[in-house]
Amino acid sequence: METAPLRLLASAAVFLCSHCFFCYADNRGPNYTFVKHATQAPRVSYHDYIIVGGGTAGCPLAATLSQISNVLLLERGGSPYGNRNISRMELQVENLADRSLTSPAQRFVSEDGVINVRARVLGGGTCVNSGFYSRASTQEVRDMDWDARLVNESYQWLEKVVAFEPKLIPWTSALKDGLLEAGVMPYNGFTYDHMYGTKTGGSTFDQTGRRHTAADLLRYADPDTLTVLLRATVQRILFKKGGRRPQAYGVIYKDEMGNMHKAYLKHGSASGVIVSAGALGSPQLLMLSGVGPADHLRSLGIEVVLDQPAVGQGMSDNPMNAVIFPSQQPVEITSVQVVGITRSGSYIESFTGYNYLPALAGNSSGGDGDQQASQRRLGVFRSPRKQRTQQNMVEGADQVSIPDEFSFQGGLLFEKVARPLSQGHLRLKNRNPDENPSVTFNYFMKPEDVQACVEGMKTINRVIESKSFSDFRYSILSVDDLLGVSANFIVNNRPRHGSYDSTTLEQYCKDLVLTMYHYHGGCQVGRVVDHDYKVHGVDSLRVIDGSTFNFSPGTNPQATVMMLGRYMGVKIQNQRLEQKKMKKP
Ligand SMILES: Cc1cc2nc3c(=O)[nH]c(=O)nc-3n(C[C@H](O)[C@H](O)[C@H](O)COP(=O)(O)OP(=O)(O)OC[C@H]3O[C@@H](n4cnc5c(N)ncnc54)[C@H](O)[C@@H]3O)c2cc1C
Ligand SMILES: *[C@@H]1O[C@H](CO)[C@@H](O)[C@H](O)[C@H]1NC(C)=O
Ligand SMILES: *[C@@H]1O[C@H](CO)[C@@H](O)[C@H](O)[C@H]1NC(C)=O
Ligand SMILES: *[C@@H]1O[C@H](CO)[C@@H](O)[C@H](O)[C@H]1NC(C)=O
Ligand SMILES: *[C@@H]1O[C@H](CO)[C@@H](O)[C@H](O)[C@H]1NC(C)=O
Repeated sequence: METAPLRLLASAAVFLCSHCFFCYADNRGPNYTFVKHATQAPRVSYHDYIIVGGGTAGCPLAATLSQISNVLLLERGGSPYGNRNISRMELQVENLADRSLTSPAQRFVSEDGVINVRARVLGGGTCVNSGFYSRASTQEVRDMDWDARLVNESYQWLEKVVAFEPKLIPWTSALKDGLLEAGVMPYNGFTYDHMYGTKTGGSTFDQTGRRHTAADLLRYADPDTLTVLLRATVQRILFKKGGRRPQAYGVIYKDEMGNMHKAYLKHGSASGVIVSAGALGSPQLLMLSGVGPADHLRSLGIEVVLDQPAVGQGMSDNPMNAVIFPSQQPVEITSVQVVGITRSGSYIESFTGYNYLPALAGNSSGGDGDQQASQRRLGVFRSPRKQRTQQNMVEGADQVSIPDEFSFQGGLLFEKVARPLSQGHLRLKNRNPDENPSVTFNYFMKPEDVQACVEGMKTINRVIESKSFSDFRYSILSVDDLLGVSANFIVNNRPRHGSYDSTTLEQYCKDLVLTMYHYHGGCQVGRVVDHDYKVHGVDSLRVIDGSTFNFSPGTNPQATVMMLGRYMGVKIQNQRLEQKKMKKP
């Protein structure tokens, strides 16, 4: 990236690092003996379990299953270790902005015109996300039909390794107090638990700003029975036909040299292929393997194994809407620390520092808006260090010339619609597993979602006007000014309608929608998989990851996706032990 903001960001990172001795020592990571590149793998191998996708669910699942079985974990991305974009909190945006063909974050734009990313690295979304760590509520655990005791044990298992209490900066303390003033009561203190009111949540960034990921959970693995292959892109799942139902018996994967390898399930072991390739990857791989809507598969020349119209259905992304908030005081960079859990169906969070802005501004060729224009908009939010009068801060962006050196002082306040009713679908564009499928989320198709967003935005407006936030706010900037200027800055590919202020919040929600990256669905429980996460209509195949969700659990889902990996690992292990016992006389 060669934009001014990122250059500045890079120099800021160097500055930070010269002030902390651990920065250069922290990125080597554990050197697992069982992690190899797929190019080193044999052309044929045999395993009890083959897991596709070393992501948020795949890593804890593989670590757990390896304790009594031979497990192969196949990940299309590389290692997160040794990559500072991943390990350092302040480089989050660098990480998301990396557009190389093997970058940890792979960009996609949904048919709705919202710029989005998906993970491509061992550790998956936990290596590219904002780190906020928050459990599912008791009610959500019931809605998922899970065993509450095992859920609790599984959360604790991962929290020992990846979850930390954040150190609040003045900005997030003000947000906490502002949320209370805005009526999001009570304050529940620091907790991983989900309940109405305002809380300080956990983070996968520790207090030194170092990220801990699902890949770190592989330390629980048995190194003698687990093999993890990097840059191993699964092309399709193999099915035996002719029996009562099609049965998965292996996979074909490609290494980075383009060579194909086959991994098979060991004969006679009560084992299986488990797909944990994420909400885009799992439905995509099922379809590429012949499990999906028959007409669609045939139109691409894919041989149909099972006509299953529900694969790729129920795709949902929680809409996010934001207000960009320039601060009259310096604001430290941090990630999400505090959340307001409202009773009107939204969660309110914030992100600080200039670090988030380039990601929102996006890249501008390739249909993501116009680079020059977004640069100009950025100028409006230049730091007052450049001796700008407060007056010209609210005037049109066109008057502002872009300085070589850019900085934004402030943050982003945003809300997520907790349980959108709007849903969409995923289709293949072609038969190439390296390419993104086409996905439509239909944001705000349902009026209830618009209403939840409007209520969330009203709460944000009350926070902005709160006494607690007054130290940060320019008194000359009204809420309407902030909404208007934010609208100029936010980048998506959706049509704009009129002007934006506190009287047009519905339009603000619809036109300026962004993603919080909590998209889910495509292989939903009850439609594609049963409550044991087995794929309906075929044998020896499960899907275990965010694609199975009917809603995004917790204020943010990563805790629960990792938990599900551990939870199902324990359940499958117990089932296997039961079967072994029954076989013995
Ligand atoms: C930018 C961003 C910020 C976020 N912020 C937060 C946050 O602060 N807090 C929070 O709780 N959640 C956050 N999330 C959401 C959370 O990270 C995701 O919901 C979660 O990680 C999804 O987990 P998953 O296991 O379903 O998929 P993933 O973690 O994406 O795992 C899927 C894995 O499968 C691999 N794969 C896919 N296809 C293949 C194939 N054919 N062959 C081999 N491997 C394959 C992928 O490379 C990937 O590693 C954020 C997400 C993003 C992207
Ligand atoms: C990697 O493992 C080797 C052998 O166990 C060890 O000597 C080395 O110190 C390890 N490196 C790191 C960075 O942990
Ligand atoms: C970090 O991201 C930047 C782009 O944002 C990229 O140029 C750089 O190569 C990345 N670093 C690593 C170690 O991947
Ligand atoms: C989880 O278990 C711990 C320890 O047994 C207990 O203190 C806690 O209340 C439990 N939490 C929930 C949400 O059940
Ligand atoms: C923007 O995207 C285009 C095409 O997708 C690419 O050629 C260009 O290098 C990108 N620019 C930046 C700054 O990332």
